[in-house]
Amino acid sequence: MLHSDPLRVRSSTVGLRRATAADLPAIGLADGRAFGINYSDDDLQDFRPLFDPDRFLLACDDDGTILGITGDFPFDVTLPGGGRLPATGVTWVSVAVTHRRRGILRALLAEQHRAFVADGVPVSLLTASEGGIYGRFGYGVATEHRSIEITRRRATFRPGVPDPGGVRQVETAELREVGPELHRRWAARTPGALSRSAAWWDSLLLDREHRRGGATALFHFLHADGYVSYRIDSSSQTCRVTDFTAATATAYIALWRTLLALDLVETVSWWNAATDEPLQHLLADRRQVRTTELDDGMWARVLDVPAVLSTRRYATEIDVVLDVHDPFLDRGGRFRLRGGPDGAECAPVTAGAGPAGSFGVVSLGVAALGSLVFGGGRAESFAMAGLVEADPAAVRRLDTAFRSERGPQHGTQF
Ligand SMILES: CC(C)(COP(=O)(O)OP(=O)(O)OC[C@H]1O[C@@H](n2cnc3c(N)ncnc32)[C@H](O)[C@@H]1OP(=O)(O)O)[C@@H](O)C(=O)NCCC(=O)NCCS
Repeated sequence: MLHSDPLRVRSSTVGLRRATAADLPAIGLADGRAFGINYSDDDLQDFRPLFDPDRFLLACDDDGTILGITGDFPFDVTLPGGGRLPATGVTWVSVAVTHRRRGILRALLAEQHRAFVADGVPVSLLTASEGGIYGRFGYGVATEHRSIEITRRRATFRPGVPDPGGVRQVETAELREVGPELHRRWAARTPGALSRSAAWWDSLLLDREHRRGGATALFHFLHADGYVSYRIDSSSQTCRVTDFTAATATAYIALWRTLLALDLVETVSWWNAATDEPLQHLLADRRQVRTTELDDGMWARVLDVPAVLSTRRYATEIDVVLDVHDPFLDRGGRFRLRGGPDGAECAPVTAGAGPAGSFGVVSLGVAALGSLVFGGGRAESFAMAGLVEADPAAVRRLDTAFRSERGPQHGTQF
C-alpha cells in the first residue's frame, strides 16, 4: 500500500497500490461498471499494449476489491514555438458507484500527482468526462475541438482555391508505415499536439468491427504531406472522418478536395476539427461548415512552472512576475518570466530579489495557467472572470505574448 494515511470509507479502510499485469481483467470490470461499458476479453487484450501496470494506481478495500482507478499514458506535447516536453496523460479515472463522494478520487489523484512531481514530470494532461471535476485539481482547458458537418453537394470551393492533387487511396498497412512521420511533422508545428507511440498507432488502426458504429472499415487518402482516415456510413450516406493530419496547407487543401468529391456521400463529418479550421475559408459559403458541437478537448495541469514557461516561445517580448496559486499540490509561488519569440527563461523569485518584471505582477491559479500555456486561453477573458488579476495593461500584454501561432490541438483522444 502506498497510502501512508489510511482513508476510511464507511467501516473499511481503503488503501492505494500500484496495479500489476494480472489486474487488467478486474480493472476492466471496475471501470466498465463505473462508465457503463462491457469490455470483452478481446477488448482488454487489445488494450494490453497500451497498459503499463506501473502507471496505474488502484484504490482497494480490505478484501482487495477495486474501488477506484487512475492511470496515465506517457506522451510528448508541443508548446507554442515548437518546444516539446514529456507529459502524463491521466486516464481510466473512475470510482465505484457505491463509494462515490467520499474522497477516493481525491486520494488517488493526490498520490498519482505526488509521484508525477517526484518523477520530474513538467505537465500533466487529461480529457474530462465532465467539466466540473478537474479545476480543483489544477487542470484548465488547454484545447477545444468542434464537430463539423458539411453537406457535400453544397460545399463549393472559392474560385482561385488551388486543386493540388497528389492524393492516393491506400490500405491501412501503407498508412501504418508512413503515417507516423506525417503525424510527427504535424505535431511539431501544432501547439498542444500529442506524440503517438507505435502502440497508439497500432491501437488506432486496429479497426475492430464492433467499434465501427455500423459503418465500413477504415479507408485512407494519402498525400506526401498528410493523410485522412474515414468510414462510410451508408445508412445516412455520411463519410465520417476519424483522423485528419496535414503538415502543409497544400496537403490540407488536397485532402479536403478529395473528401468533398466523394460521390454518393451526402454529408462529411469530422468530430475533431480545430476551432480555427481553415476549411471554412476555402469554401464559397463558409456556413456550409456547420458546427454541431463545441467542446473542451485536453486539460493541462502545470507541475513545473519554470520548465513549462521556459520551453515555450512568446508572440511578443514579455517580462513579468507570475504569482501562481496551487492549493492542491503546492507547486505554485512567484516566478519571473522573461521571454519572447526567440527564447525564454523562468525562475522562482527569491525573497529580496530585484524588481518585479516590467509588466508587474500577475496573479492567477495554476488551472488558469494550464489554459494559457498552450496559447488557446485568453488572459483578458480570464481577467474579466476574476481568474487572472493584474492591472489592465499587464493583462493585455500577457494576453498578446501568450497567444500561439495557431490554435492548440491535441489530436489524439485518450
Ligand atoms: C468522477 C468520479 C471519479 C469522482 O470520484 P469520487 O471518489 O466520487 O470523488 P471524490 O469524492 O474524491 O471527490 C473529489 C472532489 O471532486 C468533486 N467531484 C467529484 N465528482 C464530481 C463531479 N462529477 N462533478 C463535480 N465535482 C465532482 C467532489 O465534490 C470533491 O470536491 P472537494 O474535494 O473539492 O470537496 C466518479 O464519480 C466516477 O467514477 N464517475 C464516473 C466515471 C467518470 O466520469 N470518471 C472521470 C473520467 S474523466
